[in-house]
Amino acid sequence: MALLPILSYPDPRLRTIATPVKEVTAEIKTLITDMIETMYEAQGIGLAASQVDRHIQLIVIDLSEDKDSPRVFINPKVTPLVEEKQSYEEGCLSVPDVYDKVERPNKVRIEALDQDGNAIDEEVEGLLAVCIQHEMDHLSGVIFVDYLSRLKQTRARDKVRKVLKIREKQGEQVAEKEPQPANS
Ligand code: NI
Repeated sequence: MALLPILSYPDPRLRTIATPVKEVTAEIKTLITDMIETMYEAQGIGLAASQVDRHIQLIVIDLSEDKDSPRVFINPKVTPLVEEKQSYEEGCLSVPDVYDKVERPNKVRIEALDQDGNAIDEEVEGLLAVCIQHEMDHLSGVIFVDYLSRLKQTRARDKVRKVLKIREKQGEQVAEKEPQPANS
């Protein structure tokens, strides 16, 4: 197992469109394991392969409190099931320490494959619906701050630069002192 470096906004590589996974090879399985470990280490609830500079349609999510129920979504397709949108405070491991409200449909259908190649076909709502849509955006090169105003995007860039500098100085990731909304 290995921790993978996470790309930070506004790294242009985060704009790459992910391609479908053709076959779940041993290499992909290792990537899945590493992505899950990386997500836990960074205290995130979701991670898309795009964020670790692997541009394939692969997402890992764990919404469990004990961080013991990781879920894997390969070649996911997400369809909104409701028209009205709900606002949720989002964060992202690629945009550290920036949180803001984004509106999304809060009920969706997820079709995907899991790590063993089994078909997933579920209707989900709430946090999982928000999280999977956030991660799907990553696969299309979209970051949640794209939904915010220009001013907020500029502020987000400044904030990320500052956070990265602090991390560099400390030689490790900043410890979260206060409880923060979820990162994905
Ligand atoms: Ni994210």
